[in-house]
Amino acid sequence: MNKSNMYTFLTSSDLFIFCLILLSRKSSAADYWHEECQPKNCGNGLNITFPFYIQGVQESYCGYPGFELNCTKGHGYPTIRLPGNDYIVENISYSSRSFRVYNSAVLNTSNRTCLPQIRNTTLPTAFNYANVTLLYLLSNCTKPLPDDLSRYQVSCGSENRDDWDLAIRDKDENSQNGLENCKKHVVAPVDAHGDDHENGMGNYMKIIRRGFVLNWTASDCSKCQESGGVCGFNTSVYQFKCFCPDRPHSVSCMPGKLCSHLLSGKVLINQLNCT
Ligand SMILES: *[C@@H]1O[C@H](CO)[C@@H](O)[C@H](O)[C@H]1NC(C)=O
Ligand SMILES: *[C@@H]1O[C@H](CO)[C@@H](O)[C@H](O)[C@H]1NC(C)=O
Ligand SMILES: *[C@@H]1O[C@H](CO)[C@@H](O)[C@H](O)[C@H]1NC(C)=O
Ligand SMILES: *[C@@H]1O[C@H](CO)[C@@H](O)[C@H](O)[C@H]1NC(C)=O
Ligand SMILES: *[C@@H]1O[C@H](CO)[C@@H](O)[C@H](O)[C@H]1NC(C)=O
Ligand SMILES: *[C@@H]1O[C@H](CO)[C@@H](O)[C@H](O)[C@H]1NC(C)=O
Ligand SMILES: *[C@@H]1O[C@H](CO)[C@@H](O)[C@H](O)[C@H]1NC(C)=O
Ligand SMILES: *[C@@H]1O[C@H](CO)[C@@H](O)[C@H](O)[C@H]1NC(C)=O
Ligand SMILES: *[C@@H]1O[C@H](CO)[C@@H](O)[C@H](O)[C@H]1NC(C)=O
Ligand SMILES: *[C@@H]1O[C@H](CO)[C@@H](O)[C@H](O)[C@H]1NC(C)=O
Repeated sequence: MNKSNMYTFLTSSDLFIFCLILLSRKSSAADYWHEECQPKNCGNGLNITFPFYIQGVQESYCGYPGFELNCTKGHGYPTIRLPGNDYIVENISYSSRSFRVYNSAVLNTSNRTCLPQIRNTTLPTAFNYANVTLLYLLSNCTKPLPDDLSRYQVSCGSENRDDWDLAIRDKDENSQNGLENCKKHVVAPVDAHGDDHENGMGNYMKIIRRGFVLNWTASDCSKCQESGGVCGFNTSVYQFKCFCPDRPHSVSCMPGKLCSHLLSGKVLINQLNCT
């Protein structure tokens, strides 16, 4: 063995041992963050994991900023706060990165009220709203109502002055007319694929209850999850983290390409650029 070959051999075995040490650390004492951020159940059988995290149960580094859920409301459903209103969360799909929400005011509904608790919702930029349109809920309207607005009336059988008089989709030909004839209105996001052809009370409650679907583009968690890690986010450096059994990694728990190739014998040392 000449000098240069010896050098390569030593480098190779050093790397090999280094890789073995990296791998063996995996099975040693469990990592704190890896334990802390395991998926948790949140009522409803919903499996909560990255990018969501549960306020008060998990630390914010288990999720992505803006994805905090509250699982301790009296009604038992997980909620997310979209500025202005609390929304009940259902049908989280981690594979299509989407979830459905509806305004929690719906839970307070009886046949005697028209959800006066609904307030203006600001849609946060953390999410995409591919299939969302807006519904105007109007009150303090001109009496008597112009004829062309009467079909949008939502009468709740109560004299509650806070209830809505009209519900009109923003795309409706009469939405501007409605806004001009009513002193107060709030904007409620609704499903764009709801029934557009029916107006009035019955449909209004259905539309609000159906809610709408949001999707997200927060960091892709699949590489990390497939390698046995749980995803997280370090807000102080604003960076995705993969919490692995040994320690936090940047993308996944797999050893680097170099190590896995060396260990599987796929690559000979003289093919590597080791100097
Ligand atoms: C929750 O999701 C994790 C990861 O996808 C999975 O390992 C776990 O079995 C799920 N738990 C339940 C109760 O569905
Ligand atoms: C969750 O909601 C409950 C009930 O409204 C409230 O008392 C609690 O402070 C909320 N938790 C968090 C972490 O916001
Ligand atoms: C959505 O969630 C509701 C209530 O949690 C459930 O009844 C319904 O089957 C779910 N739909 C889908 C498509 O998962
Ligand atoms: C529902 O009603 C309860 C009790 O009247 C009230 O505390 C709560 O704020 C209401 N929820 C909403 C979303 O308006
Ligand atoms: C609401 O009205 C429907 C029929 O109009 C009735 O079946 C239902 O029991 C009523 N619910 C309450 C809470 O009064
Ligand atoms: C999510 O929303 C964006 C834009 O709103 C859209 O381009 C994308 O196709 C949506 N993703 C899915 C899976 O629907
Ligand atoms: C939006 O609606 C279209 C058509 O119904 C559907 O294919 C798509 O998956 C929906 N996107 C979301 C994010 O729900
Ligand atoms: C409704 O209209 C009346 C009279 O025009 C006004 O005094 C009142 O402040 C209005 N209420 C709201 C909530 O705008
Ligand atoms: C709701 O927001 C719209 C604009 O987005 C505004 O014109 C309206 O006055 C707001 N309503 C209330 C009750 O603040
Ligand atoms: C986040 O990054 C800071 C600075 O590098 C570090 O001190 C901290 O331990 C990290 N926290 C997590 C949860 O990764």
